[in-house]
Amino acid sequence: MSHKIAILPGDGIGPEIIAEACRVLEVLRSEYGLSIETERADVGGAAYDAHGHPLPEPTLRVAREADAVLLGAVGGTKWETLERALRPEKGLLALRTELTLFSNLRPAILYPQLVAASTLRPEIVNGLDLMIVRELTGGIYFGQPRGIRILEDGQRQGFNTLVYSESEIERIGRSAFEIARKRSMRLCSVDKANVLEVSELWRSVMTGLAAEYHDVELSHMYVDNAAMQLVRNPKQFDVMVTGNMFGDILSDAAAMLTGSIGMLPSASLDSHGKGMYEPIHGSAPDIAGQGIANPLATILSVSMMLRYSLNEATLADHIDAAVGTVLDNGLRTADIASAGMHTVSTRAMGDAVVDALRAKS
Ligand code: IPM
Ligand code: MG
Repeated sequence: MSHKIAILPGDGIGPEIIAEACRVLEVLRSEYGLSIETERADVGGAAYDAHGHPLPEPTLRVAREADAVLLGAVGGTKWETLERALRPEKGLLALRTELTLFSNLRPAILYPQLVAASTLRPEIVNGLDLMIVRELTGGIYFGQPRGIRILEDGQRQGFNTLVYSESEIERIGRSAFEIARKRSMRLCSVDKANVLEVSELWRSVMTGLAAEYHDVELSHMYVDNAAMQLVRNPKQFDVMVTGNMFGDILSDAAAMLTGSIGMLPSASLDSHGKGMYEPIHGSAPDIAGQGIANPLATILSVSMMLRYSLNEATLADHIDAAVGTVLDNGLRTADIASAGMHTVSTRAMGDAVVDALRAKS
């Protein structure tokens, strides 16, 4: 059976890194017998420019009909002054909600070859391998009411609403407990239950679930402490589960522990295993078009796609191994190079992964 993959390059460095990920897919097709059909579509600012909307109907259809979506990145200064509904980020957020991709997996893995690229001391980060499970379709990102209104005294007031229903908490909780079961059986739920009622409910639902998953050890931590612990002693964590905005923030912090946000993939899953896969680093408009972006996060997103949506774990292992090989061979894009190291281009890094895969086929 052929897997249908929607390819949405997006903006900034998106097209450059997606090009390398597509070459990896092509090798898997031609040399490893992976059966795929790909279809490309515009999203984000590129879609706005071409069709006047960051998530045009044809793109949504392509994404819906696919078994998995591979996305580059969206956003850029060019579109920042557009009204909110037309901004590139809105295209990404709408994809997440339209496809009900509520469970966002953001692994932070430190490759041993890159210990020196981390801003933390080697003994703090060596061997780091944690997974943040971020709720992705609820919370303050989507809560109503929201807006900017004029108060009686004439000044403006901005407001957003942080809401979570029990069922939303329960489904992300289950997702996280299941992942903990496949890892070290430890789950840390992050909230702000000392201040927020919504967190009080979050904590009580998580605690309720723990009775069902009694083989998993559940702990709770306030988000401010979690942020501190992530940089103090990150290896105490294995799987963390948290809401949309806390997860957005903590996953950037966790990413940087690994030396570069340019290394980290992500998966956003619905309840049937369909998913959207994207690097977590964003569109990096400052380096777009220069051919220097790190394609490894996107290539590793292909690996996650094979593992979580396409049931091709062996091929995922091959990609992960190929990435290990190119790092062993000393290839570094600028973001992961330590002082004095030679750096390579986006294309050269893609070439190296492709060669490593060919060599093993
Ligand atoms: C992320 C990004 C997005 C988010 C933006 C681009 C809307 O920061 O995927 O973490 O806030 O979710
Ligand atoms: Mg973010």
